[in-house]
Amino acid sequence: MTRETSLFSGRPSELLGKQIAGYRIEKEIGRGGMAVVYRARDLRLERTVALKLLAPELARNDTFRRRFTHESRAAAAIDHPHIVPVFEAGETDGVLYIAMRYVVGSDLRHLLDREGPLSPTTTLRIAAQVASALDAAHDHGLVHRDVKPGNILVARGTDSDHPEHAYLTDFGLTKKSLSLTGFTTVGQFVGTLDYVAPEQISGRPVDARCDVYGFACVVYEILAGHPPFRRDDDMALLWAHQYDEAPPLTEARPDLAPQADPVLAKALAKSPDDRYPSCLAFVAALRAATAGGVPAVGHTPTRAGREPGEERPKPPPRWAEPVFTQRT
Ligand SMILES: Nc1ncnc2c1ncn2[C@@H]1O[C@H](COP(=O)(O)OP(=O)(O)OP(=O)(O)O)[C@@H](O)[C@H]1O
Ligand SMILES: [Mg+2]
Repeated sequence: MTRETSLFSGRPSELLGKQIAGYRIEKEIGRGGMAVVYRARDLRLERTVALKLLAPELARNDTFRRRFTHESRAAAAIDHPHIVPVFEAGETDGVLYIAMRYVVGSDLRHLLDREGPLSPTTTLRIAAQVASALDAAHDHGLVHRDVKPGNILVARGTDSDHPEHAYLTDFGLTKKSLSLTGFTTVGQFVGTLDYVAPEQISGRPVDARCDVYGFACVVYEILAGHPPFRRDDDMALLWAHQYDEAPPLTEARPDLAPQADPVLAKALAKSPDDRYPSCLAFVAALRAATAGGVPAVGHTPTRAGREPGEERPKPPPRWAEPVFTQRT
């Protein structure tokens, strides 16, 4: 077999039809800062998989390689309905790869970009699934470190009671935490900083509670339509995560009960000690806070009652619901 020395020259099409470690590459399905994900055919088991090929500069980083191997194995060992099953992780010709279940659906990043903020009901359904996955990982001693919408895949659920099935993916594959702790060279792309916990930024020890923070940023964004902190540059964003208070969620979502605000504030606490002890505890608190029902929507002035030149009241927002229309 000829050695593939340039699996990553950047051209997306060049690997199509090629075989890598027993997988035939069929189609590119997405790319992030550190990898390209393909739909591929597992030629041994005759099934479709998602094959993730990590960028070669990561394969050259010993710290990353060790963690990749360790955490891919650890993630593969967790059998959880809301964690993407990893079939195999390995290396071929200097390229690190992961073969995992091919999830038919959309990642949450694309879904939010397409649908906008989601209804509280849909949010709580998806959040509870992701929270159960994170808590299960934590029980296995794994910290995800990169909880963000791009790492949550949403597939069609089984029935109208379960319209979506959410999967968490990419354990320990964050380049961000490596770079924040100085493992990668300065100037490399580190991905989004919208969901990074204060202790990750300051290089303090990171445990499950950093995922509670990242997860809370994601839940905030699902409901508000934007992450808790919006700043013009990365330095300002890192500062905000460490020192600023997030705007109350109800500023963006006045339809939510005000009790939701302290729940988000606790989950986003700067000190891990002040956060919820688990992701499910956070979701339970959010459910309880929003269960009281939707507060009365402010009185909309009638057309006749408006002064000349007065701004027309905005129509009440339509939150995406449901994400998937059920097949009958
Ligand atoms: N198992 C899977 N099944 C189907 N699609 C997937 C699967 N894993 C990843 N994808 C798709 O591939 C895209 C790229 O994934 P990737 O992890 O490389 O990037 P990302 O998570 O957006 O960013 P980052 O590089 O920061 O992790 C995902 O956003 C998702 O749409
Ligand atoms: Mg990812």
